[in-house]
Amino acid sequence: MNKLVIIVLVALSVLACSEKYEEKEYNKGVNIVPQPNVLSQHEGVFKLNKKTTIVAVGEGAETVANFFQAKITQSTGYELASSASASKNYISVEVDATSGLAEEAYTLVVTTEKIEVKAASNRGLFYGMQTLMQLLPAEIESPTLVSEINWNIPCVTVEDAPRFPWRGMHLDVCRHFYSVDFIKKQLDVLAMYKINKFHWHLTEDQGWRIEIKKYPKLTELGSLRVDEGKEHGGFYTQEQIKEIVAYATERHIDVVPEIELPGHALAALTAYPEYSCAGGPFKVRNVWGVEPDIYCAGKEETFDFLEDIIDEVVALFPCEYFHIGGDEAPKSKWKECDQCQARIKAEGLHDEHELQSYFVQRVEKMLLARDKKMIGWDEILEGGLAKSASVMSWRGEKGGITAASQGHDVVMTPGNWVYLDHYQGSPKVEPVAIGGYTTLEESYGYEPVPKDLDKDKAHHVLGTQGNVWSEYMYTPELVEHRVYPRIIALAEVNWTQANKKDFDAFVKRMDNQFVRLDQHKINYHIPQPEGPINNMVITEASTLEFTTTRAMAMYFTLDGTEPTLASTKYSAPIPVEGDATVKIRTALVSGKLGKVRTISVKKEDFIAAAQVEAKNKGLKYKVAEAEIYSTKEVAKIKNWKEKVAKDYKETNKLFDYKKPSVAIFDGYVEILEDGVYQFSTNMDELYVAGNLLIDNDGEVKRHPRTDASIALAKGLHPLKFLYINNVFGGWPQAWNGVRISYKNVNEEKFKELKPENFVY
Ligand code: ACM
Ligand code: ZN
Repeated sequence: MNKLVIIVLVALSVLACSEKYEEKEYNKGVNIVPQPNVLSQHEGVFKLNKKTTIVAVGEGAETVANFFQAKITQSTGYELASSASASKNYISVEVDATSGLAEEAYTLVVTTEKIEVKAASNRGLFYGMQTLMQLLPAEIESPTLVSEINWNIPCVTVEDAPRFPWRGMHLDVCRHFYSVDFIKKQLDVLAMYKINKFHWHLTEDQGWRIEIKKYPKLTELGSLRVDEGKEHGGFYTQEQIKEIVAYATERHIDVVPEIELPGHALAALTAYPEYSCAGGPFKVRNVWGVEPDIYCAGKEETFDFLEDIIDEVVALFPCEYFHIGGDEAPKSKWKECDQCQARIKAEGLHDEHELQSYFVQRVEKMLLARDKKMIGWDEILEGGLAKSASVMSWRGEKGGITAASQGHDVVMTPGNWVYLDHYQGSPKVEPVAIGGYTTLEESYGYEPVPKDLDKDKAHHVLGTQGNVWSEYMYTPELVEHRVYPRIIALAEVNWTQANKKDFDAFVKRMDNQFVRLDQHKINYHIPQPEGPINNMVITEASTLEFTTTRAMAMYFTLDGTEPTLASTKYSAPIPVEGDATVKIRTALVSGKLGKVRTISVKKEDFIAAAQVEAKNKGLKYKVAEAEIYSTKEVAKIKNWKEKVAKDYKETNKLFDYKKPSVAIFDGYVEILEDGVYQFSTNMDELYVAGNLLIDNDGEVKRHPRTDASIALAKGLHPLKFLYINNVFGGWPQAWNGVRISYKNVNEEKFKELKPENFVY
């Protein structure tokens, strides 16, 4: 073959390839998130190709251009050349401080011939380029070469600027520690959505995570706790902190450090107990909740200690804000402490709330001396708010309204909308969470300016952020599962003017964004089919009705195979007549499938009541001191003591999570009518009528996910259950108490079964 023939053949195959390429459904249309404030689409597309050049104009424009050139090269393989000027097929990237645009604003014009991105600052330009990236097919975010795709950009005109200046995400790295690489990965993605604050919660009762050179024990001792017999630790060296701050800065994200005071400080006090009231010794807290031991406000040395820490922290974080925590500081130790009481007297304070205000104001002075703006949780209002403080309103909106009305800046983070540790689907199917219930739609619906705030104070609302508390985020994957996509909804809340928000349109645009998240290997939440429990009994033909937290396609099988896009699409409740295995999952527009739910249905007769005469109220049980973490270890226990429990109060006093033990309870419960009953419990094992109905081995004993049903005839039925008094995933079984709930499956509400509801 001669050269010409080869060239022609190659050219034809390239042509065939690009013609063969069919635009993916999720890449159709314009899918920018957050929604730009002014956007119009025109005829035609700009075809990005390897000859496209980049023209960077103005101070710093080249840095922004280089950032995106490098990204584009990864997926397209094009090494886009820079040029001083061009007449067509170019992207002009311009910083013009005299453009009249606001600091974070940008304009973007795409025609078939050229693209112009313009801003008054690097930050604005960076956002303009992020928008441009979102006009390309989602695969532009791929870290590796993508072929067989047309890198077309629809012709648009965009004029855009954010609604709020504080568009944040908070991350608690104390309850669980996450690596430097994990944080960088999140910063990459947050930057795509124009999020500009990373609030880094670095100290807690459960762990101190930032190296302080003057106080090495903070990380040597304060970063370690024992979790289910194993050590949980981790901290960031100052070099790693600098690396993350630099990485964030490159992505125009300010990193706000949080050093908690005066409470949530047990990890620090474990290392340096001399700064507490009682003097210790302490252990880093290994259960969730709030520790009563806090910094002593009476000792001068406490303030010297904190000032030294602040000195080192300030040097690492260029951000103008410094978060001092301030939430949930119990005052019991201050009430008992002579030095704290002497301080109250000497300073003419009324009570411990004013002592907290005194504490915070001393820290405020330290920060002002270092040119930092102090921000704290809304408890810092109690006892009088420090003059220069900004407030993060988390216990609803009240704190934010009060502070803003007094002329302070506020970041609105009320739990109901922006606590991303909340459930986002049914607790019966989702991984265990702290509680709460905030769907994507609810997060999206948040309005940061409270209705009850006077209009002339609205400018004090800086914006909102997603708060990510990590008690129940045992792995990095679980963090991502909670954070995404809700943080992206909040990105739009912060960026887009309220009258431009539209949840249905947002969800549609997210179809494209999910593919981008896939390129970044983000384990985002996909709603699961909800409704039926995993283990259910029927006594007659029935139907299984499934719902999802937002409109999604579901596919199912009845033959035990994993559902695919070729399986039956769910359109109406699924009829079941006898034993059945229903496997069902949701699907995204990209074709990505959600986790499979397997529903096991058994057709059974009502189990006859036990032929016993139980006369006494209460529960028989046997208990033994033993430190075990699994039901499999029960067999080895020998030192049982037999007892009877009359009521809940009595059993509750019996169990202290600091003194591990095991108990097996045995009794009867009266069922008032024939029916199918659903049981729900945090107990380790529950046997009903002799059947092991619920097995919670390996589970965190909270918000049970293991409900099961059973058909019971009217009368007395034996219930036996195992209770391992220990701490699982930071949650002590002793905090649940001894209780089980049940209901007839036709009823809405569960009834609780405490020891006093049993007979023996
Ligand atoms: C908080 O959630 N305790 C600020
Ligand atoms: Zn004290």
